[in-house]
Amino acid sequence: MRKKIVAGNWKMNLDYAEGISLFSEIVNMVRDEKNGDQLAIICAPYVHLNSLAKLGGDTVSIGAQNCHQKESGAYTGEISAKMIKSIGCEYVIIGHSERRQYFAESDELLAEKTVIALQNGLVPIFCIGETLDERNNGSYFDVLKSQLENGVFGLSTEDFSKIVIAYEPVWAIGTGLTASSDQAQEVHAFIRKEIAAKYDASTAEATTILYGGSCNPKNAAELFAQPDIDGGLIGGASLKSRDFTDIVKTFN
Ligand code: G3P
Repeated sequence: MRKKIVAGNWKMNLDYAEGISLFSEIVNMVRDEKNGDQLAIICAPYVHLNSLAKLGGDTVSIGAQNCHQKESGAYTGEISAKMIKSIGCEYVIIGHSERRQYFAESDELLAEKTVIALQNGLVPIFCIGETLDERNNGSYFDVLKSQLENGVFGLSTEDFSKIVIAYEPVWAIGTGLTASSDQAQEVHAFIRKEIAAKYDASTAEATTILYGGSCNPKNAAELFAQPDIDGGLIGGASLKSRDFTDIVKTFN
């Protein structure tokens, strides 16, 4: 079922006390000011998740920013999907461009992570996006199609219907250079068309596709008004309770 979602990605920010403080502000603001059926999610570093899951209630859901591709074992330093689920998380970001870039996470590895996240009852927020070079040389549709095909199009229709897709043009992440609403809508419509071609029209129509990349209270309304944009995956603005709540309120 297509949902309106505003998900914050805190990335590697905030110590324990700072995280609790910011999250408490966000929960209170969202509870007081949200009046639609949109979902608010915070995807925080692992150290925060257990506490936030207890604080979020039915106002703000919790997600992780990654998970390992195996169920358990000798993988020092890693966190499993089962562990994330066990502390009350509902979502997990998979394939963020920073993990693809800094940790060389391939489409094939991300496909494994998506499967194990689903097997453990998590909702994957699967990220795709092109680099500036790929945008400028016109290969971005091919890149995005390849990321979909190798990352999530191996899923059954039933499993695919459980995931969320996030389009995050790499050149817009953390740069203040947001994709225009036309650019974003063009890609979101392309993604939905590819889903329809792979699966069927109803699955495509029901898929939530988020935009990420310098989304903020000033540009969220125009972006979210686009027919194929169902919300945002928010980085910097999710570290400010007022900004994040104002983006959530876009769907009021
Ligand atoms: O995952 C969301 C993030 O990559 C976007 O970051 O700071 O451009 O909103 P930002």
